[in-house]
Amino acid sequence: MKAAVLEGVEKPLVIKPVADPAPAAGFAVVRLMAAALNHRDLWIQKGRYAGLKFPIILGSDGTGVVEAVGSEGDRGWVGRHVIINPSLDWGDDPRVQGSGFRILGLPDDGTFAEAIAVPVANLAPRPAHLAVEQAAALPLAGLTAWRALFARGRLRSGETVLITGIGGGVALLALQFAVAADATVYVTSSSAEKLTRARALGAAGGANYRDADWPAQLRQQAGLFDLIVDSAMGEGLASLIELTRPGGRIVFYGDTTGNPPGFDARKVFFRQISLLGTTMGSPADFAAMAHLVEARRIVPVVDTALPLECAEQALRHLETAAQFGKIVLTMA
Ligand SMILES: NC(=O)c1ccc[n+]([C@@H]2O[C@H](COP(=O)([O-])OP(=O)(O)OC[C@H]3O[C@@H](n4cnc5c(N)ncnc54)[C@H](OP(=O)(O)O)[C@@H]3O)[C@@H](O)[C@H]2O)c1
Repeated sequence: MKAAVLEGVEKPLVIKPVADPAPAAGFAVVRLMAAALNHRDLWIQKGRYAGLKFPIILGSDGTGVVEAVGSEGDRGWVGRHVIINPSLDWGDDPRVQGSGFRILGLPDDGTFAEAIAVPVANLAPRPAHLAVEQAAALPLAGLTAWRALFARGRLRSGETVLITGIGGGVALLALQFAVAADATVYVTSSSAEKLTRARALGAAGGANYRDADWPAQLRQQAGLFDLIVDSAMGEGLASLIELTRPGGRIVFYGDTTGNPPGFDARKVFFRQISLLGTTMGSPADFAAMAHLVEARRIVPVVDTALPLECAEQALRHLETAAQFGKIVLTMA
């Protein structure tokens, strides 16, 4: 089969023939129809990710048709259209992943390929209302967004939520999920056009985080927030703390702009603010996310779909942060 392979730090993805995957016991081979990019793929290419190994087939998100299974008892999956949960071997504790936890696409080979072998336990039926490209856009971002909002953030209907950097894949699904949960949602972005597009998806308002007074703009529009979901961290955290209602929560799943300088602990403890970290999610989180998407017919936003052969071009597009929605690779 063909795959997009990364052979070292700062190397371009190259399309090359690799061995076809075979299903071990408890595994299935999925003939992939589409995969989606995540920021993680860029961090790995830049060498800014733990546990690097080369060569590696990147890609955490995939959808396709089950072609073969390694255990007779799993034969019912053959021929089914599936999405893949990229959270491998989460472990037994719903609160935190165990020591064997891995994200599909490093160290295990990922979905930028024509086929992949994954544990049957990580398969879920493809939501019937989603096209192939939309289904590929869902798993990693949907899982991360769901756990951030609901498992960690304990979002309740009627609460006021801020989601930063709405051009991000996780952020955009978090907006869609929070709107579906009857929250009032505000967003930030570097782009006026993305703020407008977020309003069309149900955001009540927003501000451009490149404006010096973005926290004041949000304060004026929304007051204080019950819940903030962020992956930028950096110097913006101080403003997010100011914008949190006493007793409110900030959930963060990334640190795109680095560690926050000059942390003001008093503003957190005296105002009873919870700072909560989150990563990916458990099998139960994934099932609950898929249920929400099916029940509310949520459609992930796809920015661009390109053939697998354009995987390197797709990564360069992700790097510009010009996208609104996920960048997807399709297989012939
Ligand atoms: N812990 C986990 O399980 C997990 C899972 C997924 C992602 N992540 C991490 O979360 C981050 C986002 O991932 P992704 O895949 O959603 O990324 P992505 O699709 O590449 O989106 C990145 C977005 O970040 C926003 N951004 C950049 N600088 C910002 C700033 N100073 N303030 C607010 N927003 C800013 C931009 O939004 P605008 O275009 O609107 O300006 C940009 O579009 C990455 O660091 C990633 O590694 C962690």
